[in-house]
Amino acid sequence: MEKTLRLDKLLSDTGRWSRKEARTLIRQGRLTVDGEAVRQPELRVDPSAVALAVDGEPVCWSRYVYLMMNKPAGVLTATEDRRAPTVLDLVPEELRRPGLSPVGRLDKDTTGLLLLTDDGALNHALLSPKRHVDKVYLARIDGTVAQADVAAFRAGLTLEDGTACLPAELEGLEPGLCRVTLREGRFHQVKRMLAGRGLPVQSLRRVSMGPLILDGTLPEGAVRPLRPEEVSALMTCRER
Ligand code: URA
Repeated sequence: MEKTLRLDKLLSDTGRWSRKEARTLIRQGRLTVDGEAVRQPELRVDPSAVALAVDGEPVCWSRYVYLMMNKPAGVLTATEDRRAPTVLDLVPEELRRPGLSPVGRLDKDTTGLLLLTDDGALNHALLSPKRHVDKVYLARIDGTVAQADVAAFRAGLTLEDGTACLPAELEGLEPGLCRVTLREGRFHQVKRMLAGRGLPVQSLRRVSMGPLILDGTLPEGAVRPLRPEEVSALMTCRER
């Protein structure tokens, strides 16, 4: 594989600058490569072998892109669909990459944390049933969680079609609101589990996935690259 990349591509790969912005700041002499200002956007370097900084701030290049989305309702978790908008339609041009895909799926009406990446190994690790990565949801429900519901979730529910679920956590937060923690991701699982206990879901929001927590300042529909510490935390799932 080609190990060198153009400087403007390398900066835009971080998701912090568009390709055009990267070219401009490089020409302005704001990028340093191993401490030396370099003004040629087309210059190729091996990103794993040089230290880059913009305005003196180190720039971390990653081979893959990792994006956090606060998914709004009404958008499909798919890469393309002819009839409805998809989560990929919400990703700004400068953050798109070949192979960028959502990690797992949220229903069309579910909101909240969605990770998108072109790192196939991480995608696989986070979804693998063997890894049991926790996914936490807040659900608005009709009704109030009782101790018997908590115990049933903990013991492992059987859905109406006979599917046996892994033990899960259910916490009643206030009348009509609960938190559910799952270690697997079956189709409509939270809705089906709660409905099975006579607690139909009115709305559902995912707030975390493994070590990744939904950024409370990210508006619905917005996308941002993960911070270096968020990527490092996710890598522990990839390597387990
Ligand atoms: N469980 C559901 O029922 N829906 C989702 O979108 C995610 C988990």
